Amino acid sequence: MRYQIRLYQEGDYDAVRDIYVSGVQEHFPRACRYVLKQPCTVAVLGLSFCLLLIVSSSLLLSLSLMVILLALGYLLLRHIWSQIIEQNLMQDLLDIGSSYMKHPACCFWVAVSNGSVVGTVGAIPSKFSPITLELKRLNVCLEYRGLGIAKALCLTVREFAHRSGFADIVLRTSVIQTEAQNLYQKLGYILVDTIPVPHPLAKVTNYTTSKYQYHIPRGPELQPQEKQQRDHIRLCATQELLSHCHGEEDITTFIQKKT
Ligand SMILES: CC(C)(COP(=O)(O)OP(=O)(O)OC[C@H]1O[C@@H](n2cnc3c(N)ncnc32)[C@H](O)[C@@H]1OP(=O)(O)O)[C@@H](O)C(=O)NCCC(=O)NCCS
Repeated sequence: MRYQIRLYQEGDYDAVRDIYVSGVQEHFPRACRYVLKQPCTVAVLGLSFCLLLIVSSSLLLSLSLMVILLALGYLLLRHIWSQIIEQNLMQDLLDIGSSYMKHPACCFWVAVSNGSVVGTVGAIPSKFSPITLELKRLNVCLEYRGLGIAKALCLTVREFAHRSGFADIVLRTSVIQTEAQNLYQKLGYILVDTIPVPHPLAKVTNYTTSKYQYHIPRGPELQPQEKQQRDHIRLCATQELLSHCHGEEDITTFIQKKT
């Protein structure tokens, strides 16, 4: 199947959001299985079953109550999943044009096949470092998987990062996104941190996100004026991002520390 990668256009808005929603929803059954397999979940279910059996002395009643417990757990997880989707749709994906296409240090690309958007990826400077680019929203439609589209999108981000003078690319993925982890490792990304998800259920079920980093090899030396201009663009983008954040390190202090 032939595809082409191009810059995001306003007409792609609904398709990009739909692909994002399908990508997250697709992981829901896997998340359920992951949570069910955790020792903490097994222990809670086992203990509840024994307690119910002792109290009721009825196997049928105990089993029925276990089914209700599992159904409640499923609904809770479903609710959390929907909240994650809603939150993300209200962040950078709410106004993709403003989030990614207004500043030269940010960008969003789509993969297109037969006139339809079949893959997406975004790049935005990290809130924590003006020399780090964050890769976000990598998604490929189910029917177009395994064709190298994600790889091509990641390489597009890498090329952009290199051209814009970033030193690293970072991204986050969750413990259950094994295809994505394989992809990043294959492309030379290194796992640098495992971060617990800040939700009580995620904490007890050991649901974590993994931070991957790719170090960009230095390109040819630029003329001082060119370098200054490029650094200024990245700096402005990071400052703009930080102006929307609270309680994080001031970017000027950060840059002073770095240089
Ligand atoms: C992860 C995802 C983007 C991969 O898209 P894709 O276009 O199918 O990936 P590619 O064809 O470019 O594959 C590149 C590499 O990824 C890995 N990979 C892709 N699909 C895989 C699978 N089903 N199982 C294991 N590894 C897989 C492989 O290392 C592959 O290299 P190879 O083909 O040489 O073995 C896609 O599965 C997806 O959109 N998933 C849902 C959303 C998601 O998890 N996004 C990541 C957000 S962090």
